[in-house]
Amino acid sequence: MAHLGKRVVLIGTGFVGSSYAFALLNQGVTEELVLIDVNQEKAEGDAMDLNHGLPFSPSPTKIWFGDYRDCENADLVVITAGANQKPGETRLDLVHKNMKIFESIVSEVMKSGFNGIFLVATNPVDVLTYATWKFSGLPHERVIGSGTILDTARFRYLLGQYFQVDARNVHAYIIGEHGDTELPVWSHADIGGKAVTEFIRERKQYKQEDLETIFANVRDAAYHIIERKGATYYGIAMGLARLTKAILQNENSVLTVSAYLNGEYGHADIYIGVPAIVNRGGIREIVELKLSETEKAKFSHSATVLKNVLNPFFG
Ligand code: LAC
Repeated sequence: MAHLGKRVVLIGTGFVGSSYAFALLNQGVTEELVLIDVNQEKAEGDAMDLNHGLPFSPSPTKIWFGDYRDCENADLVVITAGANQKPGETRLDLVHKNMKIFESIVSEVMKSGFNGIFLVATNPVDVLTYATWKFSGLPHERVIGSGTILDTARFRYLLGQYFQVDARNVHAYIIGEHGDTELPVWSHADIGGKAVTEFIRERKQYKQEDLETIFANVRDAAYHIIERKGATYYGIAMGLARLTKAILQNENSVLTVSAYLNGEYGHADIYIGVPAIVNRGGIREIVELKLSETEKAKFSHSATVLKNVLNPFFG
């Protein structure tokens, strides 16, 4: 298909991928959206179904069921394909089956002559984003993982509920693995510019143990949702749409994504969730926060867990 404008190629039209496509269409984020899936009938059906919604969309988006040749002129290739967590499974448990799938997908994309940005969502996302960087040979700033973008959103939502403030005025990050070793950056959490710790100190109705419960609910959110509905997809899909907008519209927004560290936060040769400035070129730079000693130790533990998973594949 001729290249008319901003093109996103989505690989994987399961729950996450099709929810992401639906979000893109309703937000009018891209001009072209190509759907690819091993289940070709499903992808074709999704393209037809989404096209029928176009009259309700804020801006025209050309959507079609395509193949890897459509990646040649893509600005962004988004990968949501792969197995997802079953009840009781951790994200890291998925690494072996999804690593094989990724080697094949990335190789097919690169054969097309693709020279844009990869956005990875499949879990374990930090490990698979590293793998995508290795398999593709693209510069690391053009390979991005969804990282802790959803965890940070969950954190801001729950803090907003607790302090009765719009979540958009809560500035707080979850960093580290998108998984069980992620950590809250309390040392830089504020509401409208006032430190969360100040609120706790000043008003007795707020309690430190409530904050710890909030973080535990953020870290374990996916397990709680999967127990109830079998998978998570709306939150991550909206996070991917947010990231797509920041890239295609060259926003230079700060988002907690899985980014390649080259010494930042004291670690190198790893993809892990950190705040980063995201624009049309991918990751412009990592925002390096001054972490407390406790936060530094937790971040290092998270990085070590990820490195131990990576080593058997790329050690
Ligand atoms: C979750 C999935 C995206 O946290 O890992 O819901």
